[in-house]
Amino acid sequence: MTIEKDTHHNGPETHTGRARALSNVALVKYFGKRDLRLNLPAASSVSVALEPLVTTTAVTFAPMFTKDEVVLNDAAAPENFTHRVSGFLDLFRRLSGVPHRARVDTRNAFPTAAGLASSASGFAALTVAAAAALDLSLDEPALSVLARRGSGSAARSIPGGIAVWQAGEREDGSDSYATRIDDGGKMDLRILVGVCDPGPKSVGSTEAMEQTRLTSPYYQRWVACAAADTGTAIRAVETGDLEALGEVTEHSALAMHAAILATRPGIIFWKGPTVEGLHLARRLRKEGLPAYFTCDAGPQPKLLTDGAHEAEVAAALSELPGIVEIIRCRPGGGATVID
Ligand code: PMV
Repeated sequence: MTIEKDTHHNGPETHTGRARALSNVALVKYFGKRDLRLNLPAASSVSVALEPLVTTTAVTFAPMFTKDEVVLNDAAAPENFTHRVSGFLDLFRRLSGVPHRARVDTRNAFPTAAGLASSASGFAALTVAAAAALDLSLDEPALSVLARRGSGSAARSIPGGIAVWQAGEREDGSDSYATRIDDGGKMDLRILVGVCDPGPKSVGSTEAMEQTRLTSPYYQRWVACAAADTGTAIRAVETGDLEALGEVTEHSALAMHAAILATRPGIIFWKGPTVEGLHLARRLRKEGLPAYFTCDAGPQPKLLTDGAHEAEVAAALSELPGIVEIIRCRPGGGATVID
């Protein structure tokens, strides 16, 4: 994907771009950085883009703005988020030579305030919108590298589909970007999100990653495990083997949480319904249904299944005490410019 010139010039010095991007869930998790400033991961990871969890973002760079402003779901964004976005926009100002401050208007069309990570879709959409606004002609790897600087997992929302984000080896991170390896169609993949706690996360992902790196006795083993699991997941996707993909997905989530739980002080993202969701996946598998558990740095249990079993698995998940909503997702596409 190359971003074509698609800017809307409202004046000689006003540059606007708009884009949309989907959130994603990691099948093989990213948890730990080899470089904090550049958001370089300690290991490669694998994800699937989640339709319909979309973020739409417009950005306008103009001389009339005296500071960067961020509007999130029609309200002024919290100051720390605006600060993070402002630092991210500096990358684009440096690349383009356009010095202006910007106004960012971003909204998550998520079915509810579901406590789902929106940084992946948000920074991927902002990357594509800013590149379009400033006429930066960047290919997909370059966009993914930039999105990664906003939030690691955003690198994977640029290509969408089932994506592999390579850890890379270079110190400057130029080889650490995501590419799409499949669209999930062969396996007719479905991801069911069980919403149990719509509130904000107890600990941010960067803080939790750093605490795990510094204090978990399992951190090094976890990193080695993620690297091996990435290879297993790629082979499962290539052969369309949902059972193998589901098994490695569940394993990766459990191994990540094992490392996180063992930090000092321990970080517990799980709530009761999270654990119930894990048991449910195992119970359903015993009954012969494909259902595999995963969970990110938050409490929502997510179950992987296929189209033929989606309704049955969703019904079972919705019956768990504490699950307030089910969001049914399927693999979606990459980040794109919109008019
Ligand atoms: O992109 P971040 O910094 O929000 O980190 C995402 C971390 C996990 O969601 C827990 C795992 C992943 O690979 O998405």
